[in-house]
Amino acid sequence: MISKRAQSIKPSPTLAIDTKAKTLKQKGVDIINFGIGEPDFDTPKNIKDAAISAINNGFTKYCPVPGTLEIKNAIINKLQRDNNTTYLPEEIIVSSGAKHSLYNIFQAIIDPKDEVIIPAPYWVSYIDMVILAEGKPIVINTTDKNNFKITSELIKRAITSKTKAIIINSPSNPTGVTYCQNELKEIAQICLENKILIISDEIYEKLVYDNFKFTSIVQACPQAKDTTILINGVSKAYAMTGWRIGYAAGNKEIISSMTKLQSQSTSNASSISIKAAVEALNGTQEYVETMRKEFEKRRNYIVERLNSIEGINCIKPEGAFYVFPNISSILGKSFNGKVINSDIEFADYLLDQVKIAVVPGAAFGAKGYIRISYATSIENVQKGIDRLENALESKI
Ligand SMILES: Cc1ncc(COP(=O)(O)O)c(C=O)c1O
Repeated sequence: MISKRAQSIKPSPTLAIDTKAKTLKQKGVDIINFGIGEPDFDTPKNIKDAAISAINNGFTKYCPVPGTLEIKNAIINKLQRDNNTTYLPEEIIVSSGAKHSLYNIFQAIIDPKDEVIIPAPYWVSYIDMVILAEGKPIVINTTDKNNFKITSELIKRAITSKTKAIIINSPSNPTGVTYCQNELKEIAQICLENKILIISDEIYEKLVYDNFKFTSIVQACPQAKDTTILINGVSKAYAMTGWRIGYAAGNKEIISSMTKLQSQSTSNASSISIKAAVEALNGTQEYVETMRKEFEKRRNYIVERLNSIEGINCIKPEGAFYVFPNISSILGKSFNGKVINSDIEFADYLLDQVKIAVVPGAAFGAKGYIRISYATSIENVQKGIDRLENALESKI
């Protein structure tokens, strides 16, 4: 009964780990969940109030498939204000989360066997979305030795006559690593020369640290604006993961095809969430800074603690709310009588023995690492790292 298409992909491993951790917690197990991909803060009150007003004012009906002019204008103003780039309403589509925007893009641009270059470690969904569109993911591997960054040389080697697009995700999930303006410019120029569409996932834009100045790839290389689709949303910056609002900005023919696809699948994103997102983008930005500062404190703490543990090596990333420590020197060793042979076994061991949930690097195409999300209170971070330390001290 099940199609080859559905069989060709796997469920999101990060969501699976998060669900497992939440289920154990509900059963009363004292779990520290480092598997989370969402801010632990509440959605700010002004945003909730905007949604309540939308409901009370009857803004509860269908609206235009790519979003109302009001939300498009809020996005256009944001892109001008933060990214110094001018867009028109027909160059914007609002979807049910950035994930949905990404799904629409691949459906809109990929023909069978078209290749999409994906730097690893990658966000788990890119690969499966490309496969669902019958495309071929071409993975470029990177390691912590080069700060998990691809270079124009590596891109050149991956390009073939079938290359259609490349995904750039900065700040990155899972590594937190963020590209600077010059690096982005170099990448964009290679893509321009080779007529490759850039899909730039900038969902963690607002979460950058150490006074790092985030640059969008279209700012770094304005000539690439028409061959770049920007992806962004309100989930991570405004603690709005459950509201499901994301958007894409770029070439109007691609946006129009994405709109056509969306019109035959989900139609408009929730009208109530759209009103909330307008407030998020147009209203006060003070909460964003409060959350950013708190994340920065946690990142500083967690990186320092991890690097003080024997066998763990962690680069200090500039963005997002993840760290991606290298645990390869632990592999092959025995803990509590059990030999740990892979990052997957290590993640299982941590969950079973000390009740902390982390995501194995293999889920992101990078064996020998684990992803730790610090989107949880500093007390939990402290407790979780203490447990991790204890788990490794029980080495036999
Ligand atoms: C890199 C990246 N892109 C896109 C998304 C999707 O975000 P949403 O669909 O909540 O807008 C996520 C969520 O985890 C992500 O980590």
